[in-house]
Amino acid sequence: MKIDAATELLGVVGHPVSHSLSPAFWNEALRQEGRNAVFLAFDVAPDSFQAFTGGMSVAGARGVNVTVPHKKAAFAASTRRSEHAERIGAVNVLVFEPGEIVGHNTDVDGLLNALDDLDVRPSGMRILVVGAGGAGHAAVWALAVAGADVLVANRTRSKAEELAEAAGSTVVDWDGLDDAAREADVLVNTTSVGLDGRGSVLDRPALERAAAGRLRVVFDAVYGASETPLVLAARHAGIQAQDGLGMLVHQAAAAWELFFDAAAPFDVMQAAASRAAGRGARSV
Ligand code: ATR
Repeated sequence: MKIDAATELLGVVGHPVSHSLSPAFWNEALRQEGRNAVFLAFDVAPDSFQAFTGGMSVAGARGVNVTVPHKKAAFAASTRRSEHAERIGAVNVLVFEPGEIVGHNTDVDGLLNALDDLDVRPSGMRILVVGAGGAGHAAVWALAVAGADVLVANRTRSKAEELAEAAGSTVVDWDGLDDAAREADVLVNTTSVGLDGRGSVLDRPALERAAAGRLRVVFDAVYGASETPLVLAARHAGIQAQDGLGMLVHQAAAAWELFFDAAAPFDVMQAAASRAAGRGARSV
Protein backbone atom coordinates (compact mmCIF):
# COMPACT_ATOMS: atom_id res chain seq x y z
CA MET A 1 0.00 0.00 0.00
CA LYS A 2 1.18 3.50 -0.81
CA ILE A 3 1.24 5.92 2.12
CA ASP A 4 0.84 9.54 1.06
CA ALA A 5 -0.40 12.88 2.36
CA ALA A 6 -4.02 11.70 2.19
CA THR A 7 -3.51 8.52 4.24
CA GLU A 8 -5.96 8.37 7.13
CA LEU A 9 -4.83 7.36 10.61
CA LEU A 10 -6.72 4.78 12.66
CA GLY A 11 -5.60 2.71 15.62
CA VAL A 12 -6.18 0.96 18.88
CA VAL A 13 -5.13 2.46 22.19
CA GLY A 14 -4.55 0.33 25.27
CA HIS A 15 -2.03 -0.44 27.98
CA PRO A 16 -0.61 -2.94 27.22
CA VAL A 17 -1.61 -3.36 23.61
CA SER A 18 1.12 -5.56 22.19
CA HIS A 19 -1.15 -8.64 22.25
CA SER A 20 -3.82 -6.98 20.12
CA LEU A 21 -4.86 -8.68 16.88
CA SER A 22 -6.48 -5.49 15.64
CA PRO A 23 -3.55 -3.92 13.71
CA ALA A 24 -2.92 -7.14 11.76
CA PHE A 25 -6.49 -7.75 10.72
CA TRP A 26 -7.48 -4.14 10.23
CA ASN A 27 -4.54 -3.43 7.94
CA GLU A 28 -5.20 -6.54 5.91
CA ALA A 29 -8.86 -5.58 5.53
CA LEU A 30 -7.96 -1.95 4.66
CA ARG A 31 -5.54 -3.19 2.01
CA GLN A 32 -8.02 -5.62 0.52
CA GLU A 33 -10.69 -2.93 0.38
CA GLY A 34 -8.29 -0.42 -1.19
CA ARG A 35 -8.74 2.11 1.62
CA ASN A 36 -5.98 4.71 1.95
CA ALA A 37 -5.63 4.31 5.74
CA VAL A 38 -3.31 2.72 8.29
CA PHE A 39 -4.17 1.21 11.64
CA LEU A 40 -1.54 1.37 14.40
CA ALA A 41 -1.35 0.21 18.03
CA PHE A 42 -0.71 2.88 20.67
CA ASP A 43 0.50 1.85 24.11
CA VAL A 44 -0.50 4.78 26.30
CA ALA A 45 -0.23 4.92 30.09
CA PRO A 46 -3.40 6.08 31.89
CA ASP A 47 -1.95 9.43 32.94
CA SER A 48 -1.20 10.27 29.28
CA PHE A 49 -4.59 9.30 27.86
CA GLN A 50 -6.01 12.80 27.74
CA ALA A 51 -2.89 14.14 26.02
CA PHE A 52 -3.17 11.26 23.53
CA THR A 53 -6.75 12.04 22.54
CA GLY A 54 -5.94 15.74 22.21
CA GLY A 55 -2.90 14.94 20.05
CA MET A 56 -4.78 12.52 17.81
CA SER A 57 -7.57 15.02 17.36
CA VAL A 58 -5.17 17.82 16.43
CA ALA A 59 -3.26 15.47 14.10
CA GLY A 60 -6.48 14.76 12.20
CA ALA A 61 -6.71 11.04 12.99
CA ARG A 62 -10.02 9.51 11.86
CA GLY A 63 -10.62 7.44 14.97
CA VAL A 64 -9.38 4.85 17.44
CA ASN A 65 -10.57 1.70 19.10
CA VAL A 66 -10.13 1.90 22.86
CA THR A 67 -9.29 -1.07 25.01
CA VAL A 68 -8.31 -1.88 28.60
CA PRO A 69 -7.77 0.18 30.77
CA HIS A 70 -8.99 3.29 28.96
CA LYS A 71 -12.71 2.76 28.31
CA LYS A 72 -13.85 4.98 31.18
CA ALA A 73 -11.24 7.64 30.39
CA ALA A 74 -12.41 7.59 26.77
CA PHE A 75 -15.94 8.22 28.02
CA ALA A 76 -14.69 11.25 29.94
CA ALA A 77 -12.67 12.48 26.96
CA SER A 78 -15.68 12.41 24.61
CA THR A 79 -17.32 15.73 23.87
CA ARG A 80 -20.39 13.87 22.52
CA ARG A 81 -21.53 10.27 23.05
CA SER A 82 -23.81 7.69 21.48
CA GLU A 83 -26.80 6.44 23.45
CA HIS A 84 -25.12 3.07 24.10
CA ALA A 85 -21.93 4.70 25.38
CA GLU A 86 -23.96 7.01 27.61
CA ARG A 87 -25.92 4.13 29.11
CA ILE A 88 -22.90 1.88 29.72
CA GLY A 89 -20.59 4.63 30.93
CA ALA A 90 -17.74 3.31 28.78
CA VAL A 91 -16.43 4.09 25.30
CA ASN A 92 -14.54 1.68 23.03
CA VAL A 93 -14.48 3.76 19.84
CA LEU A 94 -13.54 7.41 19.51
CA VAL A 95 -14.22 9.25 16.25
CA PHE A 96 -12.40 12.54 15.77
CA GLU A 97 -14.52 15.17 14.08
CA PRO A 98 -13.64 18.84 13.65
CA GLY A 99 -13.80 20.32 17.15
CA GLU A 100 -15.39 17.16 18.58
CA ILE A 101 -14.39 13.79 19.98
CA VAL A 102 -17.35 11.44 19.63
CA GLY A 103 -17.54 8.39 21.91
CA HIS A 104 -19.30 5.16 20.92
CA ASN A 105 -19.65 1.69 22.37
CA THR A 106 -19.55 -1.00 19.67
CA ASP A 107 -19.00 -3.75 22.28
CA VAL A 108 -22.81 -3.80 22.56
CA ASP A 109 -23.35 -4.55 18.86
CA GLY A 110 -20.31 -6.82 18.94
CA LEU A 111 -21.82 -9.05 21.61
CA LEU A 112 -25.39 -8.97 20.29
CA ASN A 113 -24.28 -9.78 16.73
CA ALA A 114 -21.94 -12.55 17.92
CA LEU A 115 -24.85 -14.05 19.90
CA ASP A 116 -27.11 -13.64 16.88
CA ASP A 117 -24.64 -15.83 14.92
CA LEU A 118 -25.45 -18.51 17.52
CA ASP A 119 -29.20 -17.91 17.03
CA VAL A 120 -29.44 -16.30 20.47
CA ARG A 121 -32.10 -13.54 20.53
CA PRO A 122 -31.77 -12.30 24.13
CA SER A 123 -35.30 -10.98 24.60
CA GLY A 124 -37.04 -13.13 27.20
CA MET A 125 -34.02 -15.39 27.75
CA ARG A 126 -32.30 -15.90 31.07
CA ILE A 127 -28.63 -15.09 30.55
CA LEU A 128 -25.91 -15.59 33.17
CA VAL A 129 -23.04 -13.12 32.81
CA VAL A 130 -19.87 -14.16 34.62
CA GLY A 131 -17.62 -11.23 35.49
CA ALA A 132 -18.27 -7.61 36.39
CA GLY A 133 -15.20 -5.83 34.97
CA GLY A 134 -15.25 -3.61 31.88
CA ALA A 135 -16.35 -6.41 29.55
CA GLY A 136 -18.92 -7.58 32.10
CA HIS A 137 -20.43 -4.09 32.27
CA ALA A 138 -20.85 -3.92 28.50
CA ALA A 139 -22.36 -7.42 28.39
CA VAL A 140 -24.83 -6.87 31.23
CA TRP A 141 -26.00 -3.56 29.80
CA ALA A 142 -26.23 -4.88 26.24
CA LEU A 143 -28.28 -7.90 27.31
CA ALA A 144 -30.49 -5.93 29.68
CA VAL A 145 -31.26 -3.40 26.95
CA ALA A 146 -32.00 -6.29 24.57
CA GLY A 147 -34.66 -7.54 26.98
CA ALA A 148 -32.93 -10.51 28.63
CA ASP A 149 -33.40 -11.56 32.25
CA VAL A 150 -29.77 -11.06 33.30
CA LEU A 151 -28.03 -12.82 36.19
CA VAL A 152 -24.56 -11.62 37.13
CA ALA A 153 -21.87 -13.38 39.14
CA ASN A 154 -18.44 -12.06 40.03
CA ARG A 155 -15.64 -13.38 42.21
CA THR A 156 -15.70 -10.05 44.06
CA ARG A 157 -19.38 -9.87 44.91
CA SER A 158 -19.53 -6.13 45.61
CA LYS A 159 -18.74 -5.36 41.94
CA ALA A 160 -21.56 -7.63 40.78
CA GLU A 161 -23.93 -5.95 43.23
CA GLU A 162 -23.09 -2.48 42.01
CA LEU A 163 -23.51 -3.47 38.37
CA ALA A 164 -26.73 -5.43 38.95
CA GLU A 165 -28.28 -2.57 40.83
CA ALA A 166 -27.50 -0.08 38.06
CA ALA A 167 -28.64 -2.38 35.24
CA GLY A 168 -31.69 -3.89 36.96
CA SER A 169 -30.30 -7.42 36.95
CA THR A 170 -29.92 -10.11 39.64
CA VAL A 171 -26.76 -11.07 41.54
CA VAL A 172 -25.77 -14.71 41.81
CA ASP A 173 -23.33 -15.95 44.41
CA TRP A 174 -19.90 -16.95 43.06
CA ASP A 175 -20.31 -20.25 44.93
CA GLY A 176 -23.68 -20.70 43.28
CA LEU A 177 -22.39 -20.45 39.71
CA ASP A 178 -22.97 -24.12 39.12
CA ASP A 179 -26.68 -23.93 40.06
CA ALA A 180 -27.23 -20.66 38.20
CA ALA A 181 -25.77 -22.18 35.01
CA ARG A 182 -28.34 -24.97 35.21
CA GLU A 183 -31.15 -22.44 35.31
CA ALA A 184 -29.88 -20.12 32.57
CA ASP A 185 -30.45 -20.49 28.82
CA VAL A 186 -27.14 -18.85 27.94
CA LEU A 187 -23.86 -18.27 29.80
CA VAL A 188 -21.55 -15.41 28.83
CA ASN A 189 -18.07 -15.43 30.35
CA THR A 190 -16.47 -11.99 30.52
CA THR A 191 -13.73 -12.79 33.04
CA SER A 192 -10.14 -13.19 31.92
CA VAL A 193 -10.15 -16.83 33.06
CA GLY A 194 -9.02 -18.99 30.12
CA LEU A 195 -7.17 -16.14 28.40
CA ASP A 196 -3.88 -18.01 28.77
CA GLY A 197 -5.42 -21.24 27.52
CA ARG A 198 -5.79 -22.57 31.07
CA GLY A 199 -8.68 -22.62 33.50
CA SER A 200 -12.42 -22.27 33.08
CA VAL A 201 -15.11 -20.62 35.21
CA LEU A 202 -17.04 -23.92 35.10
CA ASP A 203 -15.48 -27.36 34.81
CA ARG A 204 -16.68 -30.20 32.62
CA PRO A 205 -18.91 -31.94 35.25
CA ALA A 206 -20.59 -28.64 36.08
CA LEU A 207 -21.24 -28.01 32.37
CA GLU A 208 -22.67 -31.50 31.99
CA ARG A 209 -25.07 -30.80 34.86
CA ALA A 210 -25.96 -27.46 33.28
CA ALA A 211 -26.61 -29.18 29.93
CA ALA A 212 -29.01 -31.53 31.70
CA GLY A 213 -30.78 -28.39 32.93
CA ARG A 214 -31.58 -25.36 30.75
CA LEU A 215 -28.19 -24.29 29.44
CA ARG A 216 -27.97 -24.42 25.63
CA VAL A 217 -25.33 -21.85 24.64
CA VAL A 218 -21.99 -20.74 26.10
CA PHE A 219 -20.31 -17.62 24.81
CA ASP A 220 -16.78 -16.87 25.98
CA ALA A 221 -15.74 -13.27 25.38
CA VAL A 222 -12.11 -14.42 25.68
CA TYR A 223 -10.25 -15.57 22.59
CA GLY A 224 -6.80 -16.87 21.84
CA ALA A 225 -4.86 -18.85 19.26
CA SER A 226 -6.98 -21.87 20.04
CA GLU A 227 -10.43 -22.48 21.49
CA THR A 228 -10.69 -21.65 25.22
CA PRO A 229 -11.03 -24.43 27.84
CA LEU A 230 -14.58 -23.23 28.60
CA VAL A 231 -15.62 -23.51 24.95
CA LEU A 232 -14.07 -26.97 24.61
CA ALA A 233 -15.64 -28.24 27.85
CA ALA A 234 -19.06 -26.83 26.91
CA ARG A 235 -18.99 -28.47 23.48
CA HIS A 236 -17.96 -31.72 25.11
CA ALA A 237 -21.09 -31.43 27.27
CA GLY A 238 -23.20 -30.97 24.13
CA ILE A 239 -23.65 -27.21 24.56
CA GLN A 240 -23.24 -24.93 21.57
CA ALA A 241 -20.20 -22.74 22.32
CA GLN A 242 -18.16 -20.00 20.70
CA ASP A 243 -15.25 -17.83 21.82
CA GLY A 244 -14.81 -14.07 21.54
CA LEU A 245 -13.14 -13.79 18.16
CA GLY A 246 -16.53 -13.31 16.50
CA MET A 247 -17.33 -10.51 18.94
CA LEU A 248 -13.99 -8.84 18.19
CA VAL A 249 -14.79 -8.86 14.48
CA HIS A 250 -18.37 -7.65 14.95
CA GLN A 251 -17.29 -4.74 17.15
CA ALA A 252 -14.56 -3.87 14.63
CA ALA A 253 -17.09 -3.97 11.79
CA ALA A 254 -19.29 -1.54 13.73
CA ALA A 255 -16.22 0.68 14.24
CA TRP A 256 -15.43 0.54 10.50
CA GLU A 257 -18.93 1.89 9.79
CA LEU A 258 -18.35 4.75 12.21
CA PHE A 259 -14.89 5.58 10.82
CA PHE A 260 -15.84 5.47 7.13
CA ASP A 261 -19.61 5.96 7.19
CA ALA A 262 -19.83 2.93 4.88
CA ALA A 263 -20.79 -0.74 5.19
CA ALA A 264 -18.01 -2.87 6.68
CA PRO A 265 -16.48 -5.75 4.68
CA PHE A 266 -17.43 -8.26 7.38
CA ASP A 267 -16.25 -11.42 5.63
CA VAL A 268 -12.90 -9.86 4.75
CA MET A 269 -12.44 -8.72 8.37
CA GLN A 270 -13.45 -12.11 9.73
CA ALA A 271 -11.04 -14.03 7.51
CA ALA A 272 -8.23 -11.59 8.31
CA ALA A 273 -8.93 -11.88 12.07
CA SER A 274 -8.85 -15.68 11.86
CA ARG A 275 -5.48 -15.54 10.18
CA ALA A 276 -4.19 -12.96 12.66
CA ALA A 277 -5.29 -15.25 15.52
CA GLY A 278 -3.27 -18.04 13.96
CA ARG A 279 -6.30 -20.07 12.96
CA GLY A 280 -7.41 -21.41 9.63
CA ALA A 281 -9.42 -18.84 7.72
CA ARG A 282 -12.56 -20.94 8.07
CA SER A 283 -12.36 -21.88 11.73
CA VAL A 284 -14.48 -19.01 13.03
P1 ATR B 1 -12.12 -6.47 31.50
O1 ATR B 1 -12.27 -5.02 31.19
O2 ATR B 1 -11.47 -7.27 30.39
O3 ATR B 1 -13.42 -7.10 31.94
P2 ATR B 1 -11.26 -6.20 34.23
O4 ATR B 1 -12.09 -4.99 34.36
O5 ATR B 1 -9.90 -6.23 34.84
O6 ATR B 1 -11.08 -6.59 32.71
O7 ATR B 1 -12.12 -7.45 34.83
C1 ATR B 1 -11.62 -8.73 34.91
C2 ATR B 1 -12.75 -9.66 35.34
O8 ATR B 1 -12.23 -11.01 35.42
C3 ATR B 1 -13.31 -9.36 36.72
O9 ATR B 1 -14.68 -9.72 36.75
C4 ATR B 1 -12.48 -10.30 37.62
O10 ATR B 1 -13.07 -10.61 38.87
P3 ATR B 1 -12.80 -9.69 40.17
O11 ATR B 1 -13.68 -8.50 40.01
O12 ATR B 1 -13.15 -10.55 41.32
O13 ATR B 1 -11.33 -9.34 40.13
C5 ATR B 1 -12.43 -11.51 36.75
N1 ATR B 1 -11.33 -12.42 37.08
C6 ATR B 1 -10.02 -12.27 36.80
N2 ATR B 1 -9.32 -13.35 37.23
C7 ATR B 1 -10.22 -14.20 37.80
C8 ATR B 1 -10.13 -15.49 38.42
N3 ATR B 1 -8.97 -16.12 38.52
N4 ATR B 1 -11.28 -16.05 38.88
C9 ATR B 1 -12.46 -15.42 38.76
N5 ATR B 1 -12.62 -14.20 38.19
C10 ATR B 1 -11.52 -13.60 37.71
